[in-house]
Amino acid sequence: MTDLAVHIINHPLVRHKLSLMREADCSTYKFRTLANELGRLMAYEASRDFEIETFKMQGWCGEIDGKQIKGKTVTLVPILRAGLGMLDGVLDLLPTAKISVVGLQRDEATLEPVPFFEKFVNDIDKRPAMILDPMLATGGSMVATIDMLKKHGCKNIKALVLVSAPEGVRAVNEAHPDVKIYTAALDSHLNEQGYIIPGLGDAGDKIFGTK
Ligand code: PRP
Ligand code: URA
Repeated sequence: MTDLAVHIINHPLVRHKLSLMREADCSTYKFRTLANELGRLMAYEASRDFEIETFKMQGWCGEIDGKQIKGKTVTLVPILRAGLGMLDGVLDLLPTAKISVVGLQRDEATLEPVPFFEKFVNDIDKRPAMILDPMLATGGSMVATIDMLKKHGCKNIKALVLVSAPEGVRAVNEAHPDVKIYTAALDSHLNEQGYIIPGLGDAGDKIFGTK
């Protein structure tokens, strides 16, 4: 697996919380809470290389140097539906983020992503983007989302994923080697139905309580 380019977030809190999500009887409420908590921790890690600039400000004792994040505000890009399950947590850390939305539904037979919605924020060509999706399985949905963002001129793209399969990481690495993937876990493989093993099961169903 050393040939895969992926940033695995090995923080003890991340490992602990992800294990709680893997429990077969994890409730909708608990799963959704944990997805947001992990989104928050992952956003902290994925924003580590944001550029900082210095500006002059008035402190209590006079003028001082302040620091601020340089450039246009990041856009978060949740992939419907399951990506919404991480959005609030990420927004806790990046409250001024603009939100772009991509709707993709994986065809259960072919495993191909079927697009049904897209709405990107203004100036997307000047903003960094963070794609949010709990699952990176075949990689089809992530590659299609990156394709859409790049078609709109977006140049600085990161993917935040709770659980990745090697197949999905490879697909993204091959199609978009410039996109850095942050994940809480790199799991073993995909089963015949395209589910990640051991994975989380159907993350969308667990977040929305539809199963
Ligand atoms: C899931 C998941 C990803 C996609 C991953 O969404 O949230 O978007 O599948 O699979 P892939 O890497 O093989 O494309 P799904 O299409 O099931 O929709 P949902 O979010 O409504 O559950
Ligand atoms: N989508 C999911 O929700 N889970 C998987 O394991 C694969 C795709």
